[in-house]
Amino acid sequence: MNKDKTILRALAGERQDTPPIWMMRQAGRYLPEYRATRAQAGDFLSLCYNSELAAEVTLQPIRRYGFDAAILFADILLLPQALGVDLWFETGEGPRLSTTTTADELATLRATADIDETLNPIYETLRILSRELPRETTLIGFAGAPWTVATYMIAGRGTKDQGPAHALKAENPEVFDGIIERLTEATIEYLSKQIEAGAEVVKLFDSWAGSLKGDDFVKYALNPAAKIIKALKQRHPSIPVIAFPREAGEGYLGFAKATGADCIAIDNSISAEWVAQNVQPDSCVQGNLASSHMVTGGQPLIQETKRIVNALKNGPHIFNLGHGITPDANPDNVQIMIDTVRDS
Ligand code: CP3
Repeated sequence: MNKDKTILRALAGERQDTPPIWMMRQAGRYLPEYRATRAQAGDFLSLCYNSELAAEVTLQPIRRYGFDAAILFADILLLPQALGVDLWFETGEGPRLSTTTTADELATLRATADIDETLNPIYETLRILSRELPRETTLIGFAGAPWTVATYMIAGRGTKDQGPAHALKAENPEVFDGIIERLTEATIEYLSKQIEAGAEVVKLFDSWAGSLKGDDFVKYALNPAAKIIKALKQRHPSIPVIAFPREAGEGYLGFAKATGADCIAIDNSISAEWVAQNVQPDSCVQGNLASSHMVTGGQPLIQETKRIVNALKNGPHIFNLGHGITPDANPDNVQIMIDTVRDS
């Protein structure tokens, strides 16, 4: 391990006086330089598939703020697109996809072996970044977890309560399980290729894990994560994995041990003090400042940042937000957060 990389040290279980820091969606619309490069690319998806420009926007927040990690600029919905699903973004509304809800539609998805045809530019972005990042900056790759990606494939869009996915799970479990299995297999391949292209850490985003309860949580959030992590560890034993079962609540308990994840990312629905007691004894933790502080700033931002750093200071911790930074955030507040973490 490169000892200059504070993120890798935290992921190896090391407590540090100053926690390393990065931010979900750190390359995004709150930054004027991001908006300029996105305009140059034309639209969001063209930016994702333009390796030079995707690397450029990944580097922008590193240059501006000196974050300890850079996260690949891409999207969790590129994988279903590589499997043959139609994907586009409606301005101001979010993603739209052709739906996958029947055995026939499931059967028309492309084989895992064929996803690289679409995803090669993403691997190229990682190769550029491994050359261009400062030596102390860790490069993070990522994918959506099967459940979260399935919710978009089944509904054809984002949903508040993931209703269509829950309905298919109840009404046609064979097709539903088939979608989860296809995504699990393709995600293993996608993340392995990201690692081969230079990702030093990978993160699994399960943004809608919180709507799975009881056995469903085990079957569709925990088990697929465990399967993906086991396969990745077999192929790439030294690569740490961050799992983000967002809003899992009590589901965070034991998640690291049960899945083999090296770090659990925490949303801001639970307190850092609870996390210190119940999650951090098992693994590194990442989080969990509410992203609204990046909009509102002031003393509450400083106090909350200090509280979180203090609550998690006795174990391995990577400072981050509880969810992605929003387009209405003030870039100055990001600097205040970083200065507060590094001075406290
Ligand atoms: O963290 C990062 O900066 C890495 C890149 C990244 C993006 N999306 C870029 C993006 C990552 C890790 C994601 C993950 C993602 N994408 C998730 C899981 C995490 C989460 O936020 O819950 C989900 C559910 C998606 C799907 C997605 N992509 C949605 C629902 C949207 C539209 C919402 C929005 O913010 O407009 C996107 C678009 C998207 N993905 C943007 C970015 C920077 C905004 C695109 C733009 O420039 O217009």
